[in-house]
Amino acid sequence: TTPAAPRHLLSIADLTPAELTTLVRNAHHHKEAIKNGTQEVPHSLRSALAGKTVAMTFSKRSTRTRVSTEGAIAALGGNSMFLGKDDIQLGVNESLYDTARVISSMTAAIVARVGPHSDVADLAKDSSVPVINALSDLYHPLQILADFLTIAETDLPSSTSSLGVEGKKIAWIGDANNVLFDLAIGAAKLGVDIAVATPKGYEIPQDMRRVINDAAKTTPHGGKLFETTEPEEAIKNADILVTDTWVSMGQEEETAKRLAAFKGFQITSELAKRGGAKENWQFMHCLPRHAEEVSDEVFYGDRSVVFREAENRLWAAISALEAFVVNKGRI
Ligand code: CP
Ligand code: NVA
Repeated sequence: TTPAAPRHLLSIADLTPAELTTLVRNAHHHKEAIKNGTQEVPHSLRSALAGKTVAMTFSKRSTRTRVSTEGAIAALGGNSMFLGKDDIQLGVNESLYDTARVISSMTAAIVARVGPHSDVADLAKDSSVPVINALSDLYHPLQILADFLTIAETDLPSSTSSLGVEGKKIAWIGDANNVLFDLAIGAAKLGVDIAVATPKGYEIPQDMRRVINDAAKTTPHGGKLFETTEPEEAIKNADILVTDTWVSMGQEEETAKRLAAFKGFQITSELAKRGGAKENWQFMHCLPRHAEEVSDEVFYGDRSVVFREAENRLWAAISALEAFVVNKGRI
């Protein structure tokens, strides 16, 4: 008999609202237990990947995803094997199919950073072990687990079925990209409204809009998606202002055109005030950050939670590996 196909994490869309909630709550539990020493870390977790290797195939640069994933694998007692684009045959001398078959025959999981999303989807199709998307041109699930931990952790309800984020409003000011897509899907599932301001010509593609709106239907009080080309309009009553780079990896040749198109989209205190953000608004950014998308005053100011958000990548990665690799997708 052929073994059951493994469960993969390619997008937040792969998770039910309850599973997303559990993954974020588990990440919080691991943070408390390991960092703050206030909760027990079960011995079984510390050695859950003992004697096992997790392959990390990265075709693009990474600081946070690499460090957090390697740290998480170490926290679970496993061995991480980082395979950069110049280290293996993939793409140059060997097909994705052959690579997936070979790597998955020797490892417990594959964490992959790719260009086109079809690359990680194809890898998952042919892999006999779980594949976790470490960023594709469409999605960034590990980032979004950390983002909802960041939003929820300061006020997490003790009930196990909620993150306490329902009814909040996120304003995304900038490019409609991979990080936004998974964030919007997560928001929809958790009952968080999200208003997206992009320049004309840089809107969310129609297919993706459908995926986001479908995500809202997976729960009785799904979050709503609003779209505009005016940053001020998106910011009105927002609890959280978020942005990301205007030039994602792989779009470098469009830099001049993009910088011109996004003029006026820099997040500043003045813009937040003009737009009418909530009094206690906070700023988030997945990083790496460039000065054009957010002023230093906001980025390094009191409202910014970006470095806590970055650290939360570690706790989110432990939670994701535990769920998908240790527990084989039973969440
Ligand atoms: N936020 C994020 O994924 O950063 P890296 O590209 O440095 O991994
Ligand atoms: N949108 C960015 C995210 C990097 C973590 C990119 O794809 O380059």
